[in-house]
Amino acid sequence: MFSSLTSLLVISAAALPAALAKPEQIRAVQSPIFHYYLQAYPQDPTIPVMGPEASSEYFNIAGTIQSANTSAFLNIGGESTSYKTLTFADAGATDAWALEGDTIITSTGSSFGRQLNFLVCQLSGSQYWQVYLQTGSDAPAGKTCSNYQSLHLPCLC
Ligand SMILES: *[C@@H]1O[C@H](CO)[C@@H](O)[C@H](O)[C@H]1NC(C)=O
Repeated sequence: MFSSLTSLLVISAAALPAALAKPEQIRAVQSPIFHYYLQAYPQDPTIPVMGPEASSEYFNIAGTIQSANTSAFLNIGGESTSYKTLTFADAGATDAWALEGDTIITSTGSSFGRQLNFLVCQLSGSQYWQVYLQTGSDAPAGKTCSNYQSLHLPCLC
């Protein structure tokens, strides 16, 4: 009885990794960006986008999210809109990132609270969608966007 309870606790702790053993891809799971992957926009590498798997980057997630490919950190902007612009930069200014199972979140104790929604907006009819953290329901006017997307590791391995 005691040992089976112990195994259960070990399994649930393993489902919430504090840090990943190796860099992982980050992908979306809903239309219109089903299985699009996080990466830098080729025309402006400071802009994080969801794009093709072939150009996917791999990330270390532990408070910060850092690309193992480019070393850039994923930072969250401080606008007053409910959606917050994400940028890739040389220095990590955001330590709010965490994992909940395979899901990317901002942690409950961070200044953003626990958020797991993202807004994506298509960049000029391309196959790339700019990603924003979404803390409410705002969306920019005049763009093709999809609200309430979530971002995930491909697996917990
Ligand atoms: C990122 O790094 C991974 C692992 O080395 C590699 O497989 C992948 O092709 C790289 N992505 C890009 C866009 O260079």
